[in-house]
Amino acid sequence: MAGQNCGATIALLGVLLLGAARPGAEASEIALPPGSDITVLIKPGTPALPLKPCYIIHNKRQLTTLIIRSGEKVNFSFNCQNPEKHFVIETQKSIDCMSGPCPFGEVALQPSTSVLPTLNRTFIWDVRAHKSIGLELQFSVPRLRQVAPGVSCPDGVTYTISGRIDATVVRIGTFCSNGTVSRIKMQEGVKMALHLPWFHKRNFSGFSIANRSSIKRLCIIESVFEDEGSATLMSANYPDGFPEDELMTWQFVVPPHLRASVSFLHFNVSNCEKKEERVEYYIPGSTTNPEVFKLGDKQPGNMAGNFNLSLQGCDQDAQNPGVLRLQFQVLVQHPQNESNKIYVVDLSNEQAMSLTIEPRPIRLSRKFVPGCFVCLESRTCSTNLTLTSGSKHRISFLCDNLTRLWVNAEKTISCMDQRYCYKRSYSLQVPGDILQLPVQLHDFSWKVLVPKDRLSLALLPAQKLQQHTSEKACNTSFSYLVASTVPGQDLYFGSFCPGGSIRQIQVKQNISVTLRTFAPGFQQEASRQGLTVSFIPYFKEEGVFTVTPDTKSKVYLRSPNWDQGLPSLTSVSWNITVPSGQVACLTFLKERTGVVCQTGRAFMIIQEQRTRAEEVFSLEDEVLPKPSFHHHSFWVNISNCSPVSGKQLDLFFWVLLTPRTIDLTVIVSVIVGGAALLLVALGLIICLVRKKKKKTTSKGLSVGVYNGNVNTQMPMQPKKFPKGRKDSDSHEYAVIDDTMVYGHLLQDSNGSFQRPEVDTYRPFLGPMGDCPPSPPLTGSRAPTAKLTTDQPSSSVPAESESEPYTFSHPNNGNTDIPLLDTHKPSEPEE
Ligand SMILES: *[C@@H]1O[C@H](CO)[C@@H](O)[C@H](O)[C@H]1NC(C)=O
Ligand SMILES: *[C@@H]1O[C@H](CO)[C@@H](O)[C@H](O)[C@H]1NC(C)=O
Ligand SMILES: *[C@@H]1O[C@H](CO)[C@@H](O)[C@H](O)[C@H]1NC(C)=O
Ligand SMILES: *[C@@H]1O[C@H](CO)[C@@H](O)[C@H](O)[C@H]1NC(C)=O
Ligand SMILES: *[C@@H]1O[C@H](CO)[C@@H](O)[C@H](O)[C@H]1NC(C)=O
Ligand SMILES: *[C@@H]1O[C@H](CO)[C@@H](O)[C@H](O)[C@H]1NC(C)=O
Ligand SMILES: *[C@@H]1O[C@H](CO)[C@@H](O)[C@H](O)[C@H]1NC(C)=O
Ligand SMILES: *[C@@H]1O[C@H](CO)[C@@H](O)[C@H](O)[C@H]1NC(C)=O
Ligand SMILES: *[C@@H]1O[C@H](CO)[C@@H](O)[C@H](O)[C@H]1NC(C)=O
Ligand SMILES: *[C@@H]1O[C@H](CO)[C@@H](O)[C@H](O)[C@H]1NC(C)=O
Ligand SMILES: *[C@@H]1O[C@H](CO)[C@@H](O)[C@H](O)[C@H]1NC(C)=O
Ligand SMILES: *[C@@H]1O[C@H](CO)[C@@H](O)[C@H](O)[C@H]1NC(C)=O
Repeated sequence: MAGQNCGATIALLGVLLLGAARPGAEASEIALPPGSDITVLIKPGTPALPLKPCYIIHNKRQLTTLIIRSGEKVNFSFNCQNPEKHFVIETQKSIDCMSGPCPFGEVALQPSTSVLPTLNRTFIWDVRAHKSIGLELQFSVPRLRQVAPGVSCPDGVTYTISGRIDATVVRIGTFCSNGTVSRIKMQEGVKMALHLPWFHKRNFSGFSIANRSSIKRLCIIESVFEDEGSATLMSANYPDGFPEDELMTWQFVVPPHLRASVSFLHFNVSNCEKKEERVEYYIPGSTTNPEVFKLGDKQPGNMAGNFNLSLQGCDQDAQNPGVLRLQFQVLVQHPQNESNKIYVVDLSNEQAMSLTIEPRPIRLSRKFVPGCFVCLESRTCSTNLTLTSGSKHRISFLCDNLTRLWVNAEKTISCMDQRYCYKRSYSLQVPGDILQLPVQLHDFSWKVLVPKDRLSLALLPAQKLQQHTSEKACNTSFSYLVASTVPGQDLYFGSFCPGGSIRQIQVKQNISVTLRTFAPGFQQEASRQGLTVSFIPYFKEEGVFTVTPDTKSKVYLRSPNWDQGLPSLTSVSWNITVPSGQVACLTFLKERTGVVCQTGRAFMIIQEQRTRAEEVFSLEDEVLPKPSFHHHSFWVNISNCSPVSGKQLDLFFWVLLTPRTIDLTVIVSVIVGGAALLLVALGLIICLVRKKKKKTTSKGLSVGVYNGNVNTQMPMQPKKFPKGRKDSDSHEYAVIDDTMVYGHLLQDSNGSFQRPEVDTYRPFLGPMGDCPPSPPLTGSRAPTAKLTTDQPSSSVPAESESEPYTFSHPNNGNTDIPLLDTHKPSEPEE
């Protein structure tokens, strides 16, 4: 009745009420059945009240203690009005599971509280069992709450639980009612003491015992959270030292919609001789369970779902063992911030699209990873959620750190009917519902399927694109990765970002276009996206890049698949526009392409569009052309042979437009044949003509014409391939800048620009333009001090080259992050 849940005030009230109700010395009779293994002890309480003496009256004798054993029946009374102030009663029951079956189940208070005098009562159960048997104490609601030893519970009802390691008693803890501890599993015996204050009318123990298989540790304490709340728990023997080399586990049952965080309130470590003291967690969603922590580490937070935590002691230094102890708190609460927010992702008007919100791949490390979940309709939560087109989805997040998730989406645009899709266009645009999600979009991949050999594709960006190269890296927050998805064809066209000179990319067959973001800033830059794909008449080259350079900005262009080499027998062209009044300088960054053909021939054609005059270069044995100047729009076309493995075709060049001016007339002295001869050639350029191929036919408009028969066969006799170097290496020529001013003097009757046939150049002495007249080949690759290797540029965080590269080669081992372990948007196979 009174004082059921409350503190000292009500306890005091209870004293008054009961004291008033009692008519003085009251007789009690306690009968303990034989074989019950119960002993009842009535003894002075602590502190003993010295004031008015009070005695137990038994058989007309005044006693200060009374022991009643199994099989005894005893009448006694007290000679004072308030014996509860003087005496306490302790009943102890031994349960021996070693010699016979153990009485499991609900544990009763024996003798019943109704027959006991109104004194503070302590019921003790001493269960002894084999080491191999696990004993489980189960507590009914309101469960238990651990308190530090010596702390009194509000209602005075206290459980004290201890165990045994061989002969040594180990205190597991002191508990009040009304907490989270639902079960305690131990082995080798349990000693449980339930203290009920005299005014407490409780007549049940509140727990039961069950046997379990061995738990292989000191104990396991289970806590159940039904709602938000917290629990403070302590290591065995706290605040004294945890037993040496022992293991103790706490299990936590947490509703999936809540999050748990662990914090260590107080701990000390001992001096370990062997092993290390540590805590180990099993955390839902973690890929590296058990998660091992030192006691001094920051402990995990925001865990969704059930988890457990184990404390492992060590072999201590016998001389100076120190103490291992731990007091910690588990806080369970509703997830913060994002969790309450519902995001609607409406894919009801989309087709053939799927969107996955999944954990970003993490670097393999022992670092802790708390759970991070995406919930559908706030009910079903998982670490990886896929949404499909055709419906509207409502999602929320349960995640401490949303940067640990990302979104990958894929959409298929397929046209199989040539008549229907010819000239049709589709906009490749990330839907707004995806951009509003609080997680970063990683990849949005469009797979575009065309009728084979009937139509091809043109990609038209809203803003001209720049090809990402190590010399000129993209600095935007996103890029388009374009790759062929034709099975068996490993062809990656490159990574392209807005802000360049590529007006159009035409591709022959099925492709994937992946918008990949590199920084969270994509949301702000999202307006710069915009790509239209159109179905156009079929053509035979793998790709055609239409480039309209801006004045005075170098356009770097690299052949597709540049790291692995252009696939065998494929052909690619660049349509480079030179506006009137401008001159384009075309410079190859390497001396040679490195290709060695097994079968067929690899060649390059540079053709002026206006006159169709063209120059043909064998890419196999010839040095790539020196920088050349073009007054008019021109084509660069390469066709690959079937190369020897490891000797691939990779072409890298830049184009620079400059206004045609007459400001750089330069004179350079030239020495020929060792004789000092100074030639002053004011307004004259000496450019010796290299062997030049001129197209004799008048047909052929686009590149497709001379690459119609892609690869191996050139429209001219292969025997006429220009030779490598000239025999004579004794010439030294004057090198004069701005060839174009006087270029007409060197043009042949067809207007084709003639390249100087030069072997050795002297260092250029005169003023230097952006387009150097004499390329010290590898040395002139870039104005920066960057290495000329194909290493990814480390100074470009926005887009490491390895990343887009990985895109088409998922097994590339160079990336720290296994980016494509889980997501392969661009694999060629569908
Ligand atoms: C009986 O228990 C109450 C509360 O647990 C305590 O305050 C009181 O001192 C105890 N009485 C005796 C005689 O030990
Ligand atoms: C105890 O007292 C009851 C009456 O209160 C009496 O019936 C019983 O015989 C007594 N028992 C002993 C052992 O004296
Ligand atoms: C249990 O404890 C909570 C706070 O810890 C309190 O709000 C609640 O009233 C308590 N319930 C009982 C039955 O003591
Ligand atoms: C405890 O007391 C309640 C009434 O207060 C009674 O219904 C119940 O049977 C008693 N239980 C035991 C085990 O004595
Ligand atoms: C529990 O005890 C019973 C009999 O005492 C035994 O048959 C059973 O195997 C035990 N269960 C476990 C899990 O130890
Ligand atoms: C125990 O750890 C506390 C900090 O958690 C520290 O202040 C205290 O000195 C340590 N005590 C011992 C005995 O190492
Ligand atoms: C801890 O949790 C893991 C995973 O749920 C489970 O495999 C393991 O048995 C648990 N350990 C203990 C002692 O509860
Ligand atoms: C919640 O938002 C506040 C400020 O907006 C931030 O400090 C805190 O870290 C966020 N918590 C989580 C769990 O994201
Ligand atoms: C969130 O996670 C990222 C890595 O995924 C990490 O770099 C960042 O520091 C984390 N932020 C917080 C507040 O924990
Ligand atoms: C990216 O580079 C361009 C020039 O290439 C420059 O204009 C722009 O400011 C740069 N943007 C960032 C974010 O660095
Ligand atoms: C080459 O580019 C120019 C300028 O963009 C364009 O007008 C022309 O049609 C292109 N040629 C081909 C064959 O695509
Ligand atoms: C997420 O699920 C998708 C689809 O089931 C799967 O392809 C992907 O590998 C999963 N991601 C992770 C990180 O498990």
